Amino acid sequence: MEQTFIMIKPDGVQRGLVGEIISRFEKKGFYLKGMKLVNVDRTFAERHYADLSAKPFFDGLVEYIISGPVVAMIWEGKNVVLTGRKIIGATNPSESAPGTIRGDFAVEIGRNIIHGSDSVESARKEIALWFPDGAENWGSSIQSWIYE
Ligand code: PPS
Repeated sequence: MEQTFIMIKPDGVQRGLVGEIISRFEKKGFYLKGMKLVNVDRTFAERHYADLSAKPFFDGLVEYIISGPVVAMIWEGKNVVLTGRKIIGATNPSESAPGTIRGDFAVEIGRNIIHGSDSVESARKEIALWFPDGAENWGSSIQSWIYE
C-alpha cells in the first residue's frame, strides 16, 4: 500500500493543531503507520530540504523547521500521497482552499503548519531519512471497512 511522509511543523505543534491534523487523516481512512515528536538539527533539516538549497527562502525555511519540535509521521493508504496533499492544501495559505489544513489554519507561506511528500518517490526518500529503522506494522483492524 502507498505511503507518504507528513510532518507537522513547529508552528502546528506550538499552536496545538497536532490532534486536529491527525484526526483529519484518520477520519479520511488513512492508517497511521509511524509517528514521533522530534527536534531536528540544522544538518538534518538541510538534508530534508536539500532540493531547495538554491532558493532564496532556504535559510529561513531551515530556521523555521529547527525552531521547535515537529511531529514526523508515516501515513499509509490508497493514493495517500496525492490525497494527503489535497487534505493539506496549496503551499501558500493565501491560495489554499477552505476545508484544507492550510486553508483553515495558516496565513503565511513561511508558517504553513505542515509538510507532505509531493510524490511517491520523495515519500520513499523522506520516510527513509526520518524513519531509518522503519516502523512497526501495528495492524489497524478497521481496514476491511475502508477497502473493498
Ligand atoms: S518551489 O520554489 O516551487 O520549489 O517551492 P514549493 O514547491 O512551492 O515549496 C517547497 C517548500 O518550500 C517552502 N516554501 C517556503 N518556505 C518559506 N518561505 C517561502 N517563501 C517559501 N516558499 C516555499 C514550502 O512550504 C515547501 O515546504 P514544505 O515543507 O514541502 O511545505
